[in-house]
Formats: sequence, C-alpha cells, structure tokens
Amino acid sequence: MQNEYKRKNAIKFRITEKDKNIFKYNKLTNEKGEIMKETPKKLFTAYVGESQARNRYTFWAKAAKKEGYALISSVFLETANQELQHGTWFYKMLQDFKKKEKFDDMKVLPDAEFHTTLGNTIENLTSAKAGEDLEWQTLYPDIVETAEKEGYPKIAERVKAIIIAEKHHAERYGKLLKLVGDDAFFKRGKKIVWVCMECGYEVEMDELPKNWKCPSCDHPRANFRIKCEEF
Ligand SMILES: [Fe+2]
Ligand SMILES: [Fe+2]
Repeated sequence: MQNEYKRKNAIKFRITEKDKNIFKYNKLTNEKGEIMKETPKKLFTAYVGESQARNRYTFWAKAAKKEGYALISSVFLETANQELQHGTWFYKMLQDFKKKEKFDDMKVLPDAEFHTTLGNTIENLTSAKAGEDLEWQTLYPDIVETAEKEGYPKIAERVKAIIIAEKHHAERYGKLLKLVGDDAFFKRGKKIVWVCMECGYEVEMDELPKNWKCPSCDHPRANFRIKCEEF
C-alpha cells in the first residue's frame, strides 16, 4: 500500500534504446571504455536518492509547520540532516572507489526515481514512510548484496548500518502518521508530561485542549510534544 502510493507519486526515468544513442553512457565505464561493476552505479543512485530526500523533508517540514505540527516539522528537519549524512557517506564511498578504478563523472547515470509529492502532512508522511521502507527493505539490501558479490565488504558493512537508520526513519514516520489528523496527536487517554518546544515549560495532562497556550511563552498547543527524555 505504502509502496503503491510511492510509485504513483514518482516519475521513473528509464533509459530506452533510443536514449542510449543520445546519452551513450548508459553503462558505467572506466577510462578504457570497459563496462564497470554495478556497485558504484548503485552507490551513486543511493546518493541521488538521499539528496532528493533531504530536500523533500525540508519542504515537508515547512508544510507541517504551516499546518501547526511543530513536532513533525522538527522530525522532518532532523531526518533531512540525517539524510545529508547518508548522502555524504555514499559520496565518500564513491570517492574511495574512484581512487582504485577511475571513471568519468559524466558517465555515471543513476537508475533513480524522482519524487514529486508536496501535499499536506498526511500525504507527505505517507510518501516519506514509503520511501524509507523501499530503501531499507529493497534498495539498500540490494546494494549490500551487490557489494558483497563484487568484493567490497566494507561498503556492504556501511550500507548495512545505513539500513538500520532508514528502518528507524520508516518507523517514526509511521508512528507520526497514526497520530496526525483530528485531535489524536494531543489526546493520549492517560496523564503524560507535555513539553513546550519553544521554552521548555512542562505540564502533566491527558489531553491538551485546542486553545491551549503555553503559560510561560504564549506559544500555541502545536508547539508541545511529549516529554521523552530518559537521561
Ligand atoms: Fe538516508
Ligand atoms: Fe531515511
């Protein structure tokens, strides 16, 4: 279902026979013109995916803020920064690759999807979760498999760790998706501590009323999140 949503909202560019003549470089080749291994091409595809995700999460953070979901907005921004970290590592791994097997930047064409979702927070979270699921369940295990097969165990280990991060992203987007909409986000059915993200004020209540305002800084309910510190 999630991936179905994602597919509907993605444009997939495939290289056709005709395109091959235009681009020529549909395969990754070294300086002798020999076709290279699949690992670097997949690393580059992942780099493109991470770079796009970072920007989309930044757009969606703004949309969430406009809708009054301050916590979701901050989660999107935090995740955007984490995708920057993943993108950085995919790029770094490509650099290491280039030291051993030279290739021309312009000859690398990723087989990437280009997403276009910019909707409300429910739509954005749905798309975000679908993208993360696709990464940790399909795309990145495929890189691990390819890297292991082609003799790059260090790359495989690094990508395995990134898979754990993406799984975490998918899980938290899923949790937020369940809470968003109506008043569910601010109704928990039991007394819990809420914290104002603007000023740090705390209050223990089972539900924050719609017109709730922080007594310390006057920011509205949307700026409160559950207190979850364990230190
Ligand atoms: Fe990522
Ligand atoms: Fe992610």
